[in-house]
Amino acid sequence: MHDTTPAMVIAVDGPAAAGKTTTSLVLARTFGLDYLESGKAFRVIACEALRRRRPVDDPDAIGNLCDELFADGDSGSVLASARYTPLALRSPDVTAAVPVVARMPDVRRHITALIHQWAAQHRRCIIEGRDIGTAVFPAAPVKFYLTATTEIRAARRVRQEPGHTYDIVLADVRRRDLADMTRTIAPLTPANDAIEIDTSRLTIRQVLHRMSAVCRTRGIDNPTPDNHISPASPATPST
Ligand code: C5P
Repeated sequence: MHDTTPAMVIAVDGPAAAGKTTTSLVLARTFGLDYLESGKAFRVIACEALRRRRPVDDPDAIGNLCDELFADGDSGSVLASARYTPLALRSPDVTAAVPVVARMPDVRRHITALIHQWAAQHRRCIIEGRDIGTAVFPAAPVKFYLTATTEIRAARRVRQEPGHTYDIVLADVRRRDLADMTRTIAPLTPANDAIEIDTSRLTIRQVLHRMSAVCRTRGIDNPTPDNHISPASPATPST
């Protein structure tokens, strides 16, 4: 296959609420990189399947839905639609449906193509997900795999999304971990050359210092050096 890996792509993979979004956003600003949250694309498909009353567990129906959604080749505009608010994409129904669609070959093919298309236009980038370092960009020059215990991740998610009860969130995190780790195509697993960081007992600042140090030793520099690490600043919840 033609290697579409951008010269400067940082892959940040790991399970839900391991700290991927918070750290990726800060690293993006620190090193002047464009940022992509690949999970959003999977959530958009699950969200549209529910909205259009398509059976989420039917690969043909979901394959057709992907063809409709991404028909014009302009995937970026689909994902940018104002309809997909965090509230809509993070509803319990969407969160339950997303690993079901994420295991389907057609869905993964469409989204991998979408990410390649985006990265072709964003040559210095950081992409978070589950399979970026293993399947989407296996030749990425920097790969991180963030993790933490399920209990700590569930507690973080409850703090980020008040209104959800701990037991329900813990069950959801376990269910999604299992589905993401055991699927046949592009399962969630660290790439052989990924730097694994267990964030369970680390502050965001400590995680960021480790990640930044790795980036610097791999030759990633900052074209706009007025940026600095500021873990308190990202407004988006960590995942
Ligand atoms: O990152 P987020 O929690 O929003 O991802 C939602 C779901 O999308 C994951 O649980 C997983 O099933 C799927 N996903 C994936 N591969 C990615 C990103 C997300 O399978 N690269």
